[in-house]
Amino acid sequence: MRRYLRVVLLCLACGFCSLLYAFSQLAVSLEEGAADAGGKPQAAAASWPAAGGRGAERGAGPGADAGTPDRYSLKIQPVEKMHLAVVACGERLEETMTMLKSALIFSIKPLQFHIFAEDQLHDSFKARLDSWSFLQTFNYTLYPITFPSENAAEWKKLFKPCASQRLFLPLILKEVDSLLYVDTDILFLRPVDDIWSLLKKFNSTQIAAMAPEHEEPRIGWYNRFARHPYYGKTGVNSGVMLMNMTRMRRKYFKNDMTPVRLQWGEILMPLLKKYKLNITWGDQDLLNIMFFHNPESLFVFPCQWNYRPDHCIYGSNCQEAEEEGIFILHGNRGVYHDDKQPAFRAVYEALRNCSFEDDNVRSLLKPLELQLQKTVHTYCGKIYKIFIKQLTKSVRDLYDRPPKQR
Ligand SMILES: *[C@@H]1O[C@H](CO)[C@@H](O)[C@H](O)[C@H]1NC(C)=O
Ligand SMILES: *[C@@H]1O[C@H](CO)[C@@H](O)[C@H](O)[C@H]1NC(C)=O
Ligand SMILES: *[C@@H]1O[C@H](CO)[C@@H](O)[C@H](O)[C@H]1NC(C)=O
Ligand SMILES: *[C@@H]1O[C@H](CO)[C@@H](O)[C@H](O)[C@H]1NC(C)=O
Ligand SMILES: *[C@@H]1O[C@H](CO)[C@@H](O)[C@H](O)[C@H]1NC(C)=O
Repeated sequence: MRRYLRVVLLCLACGFCSLLYAFSQLAVSLEEGAADAGGKPQAAAASWPAAGGRGAERGAGPGADAGTPDRYSLKIQPVEKMHLAVVACGERLEETMTMLKSALIFSIKPLQFHIFAEDQLHDSFKARLDSWSFLQTFNYTLYPITFPSENAAEWKKLFKPCASQRLFLPLILKEVDSLLYVDTDILFLRPVDDIWSLLKKFNSTQIAAMAPEHEEPRIGWYNRFARHPYYGKTGVNSGVMLMNMTRMRRKYFKNDMTPVRLQWGEILMPLLKKYKLNITWGDQDLLNIMFFHNPESLFVFPCQWNYRPDHCIYGSNCQEAEEEGIFILHGNRGVYHDDKQPAFRAVYEALRNCSFEDDNVRSLLKPLELQLQKTVHTYCGKIYKIFIKQLTKSVRDLYDRPPKQR
């Protein structure tokens, strides 16, 4: 009798244990299912191996067994590089170097610079960039300005000399998958990594990302003056343009020149021929025409990623910047070099003066704030706090990172 009881108890215990096991398996598989459904954040974490493996730890999840092969593949994957392109012509050396410096100060993943410049600027660029080689967080390539031979002269005189070079980047940098193009008058106030991560947010039809040209249609340029089609309500600004060039090279674009869809390399010339008498801002107008006909291909990011004087000279109209601060400053109309918008100039000079020595970066904040306080007589100066809000945070994050990643 006792024996029976023992056997029964044993069976019960075993049953209970296997039930527990089954439940724990169910819980694990449910958890994994949930992780799969939220595939995007996981993919984002997996592309951050450079961030010292903190992302990898999080990506591996609770199931240690399932985590091991993941972690292994993370280790052997080469670190993703961020590609940054700029086109510099004329007196733009100092401005371009300041832009590149701002990119290097805050960024985490390594950067590959593609610098298109007039031949007479190459030696100076090389000397200045080589003096930063101790950083080991970037590489660069210098290119001459080149246009398709048949219509080189026409492309050159479009808007500013050389600006239309950017249209040809997908055709010139054939080996590069994705690229951030910026004008020379851009300053990064947070890591390039952050705008770069927007590439992963593209849906299946999006190939490029830009910010609107204006937030306020009453002062918008395209909606009041353009004599050609343009994207959306107020057009887009091409000063900060994120491109998935693999997709740009593959896509066939709808257009108003032929019923046939054309590839990037085929569409530029006919577009220029058709619109050259009607366009004012050169290549940016051509991009607007292109995305007017292919709106599903554009990802629009908010104005704080491309903050220009237009966002404050007549009163503040970039709400996202008011809330979170300016992420990327764009001093177009030459405001870094004259006295019309002293708030823009103050940020430029602070970054231009700063060197890579650690405490130097931290110590730019206080004098900059004092400088900005002197600009409150202007509309942009009235909201000067948004000029340093994100910058202050970026500097703090920089010092919170382990030193070898700085
Ligand atoms: C720069 O290029 C050199 C030589 O090709 C390479 O060894 C190095 O890892 C590269 N650095 C970065 C940050 O990409
Ligand atoms: C150029 O502008 C003129 C005047 O607004 C307009 O009549 C013409 O249709 C425009 N050309 C094109 C190709 O849109
Ligand atoms: C760009 O698009 C291609 C093709 O869709 C894709 O394979 C690639 O991962 C994309 N690049 C980035 C950085 O998202
Ligand atoms: C991608 O987003 C754009 C802009 O919101 C939209 O027009 C397009 O239809 C979307 N594409 C897909 C496949 O959902
Ligand atoms: C930057 O340096 C210049 C010249 O060295 C100096 O005149 C200017 O006051 C400095 N500006 C800031 C904001 O530190």
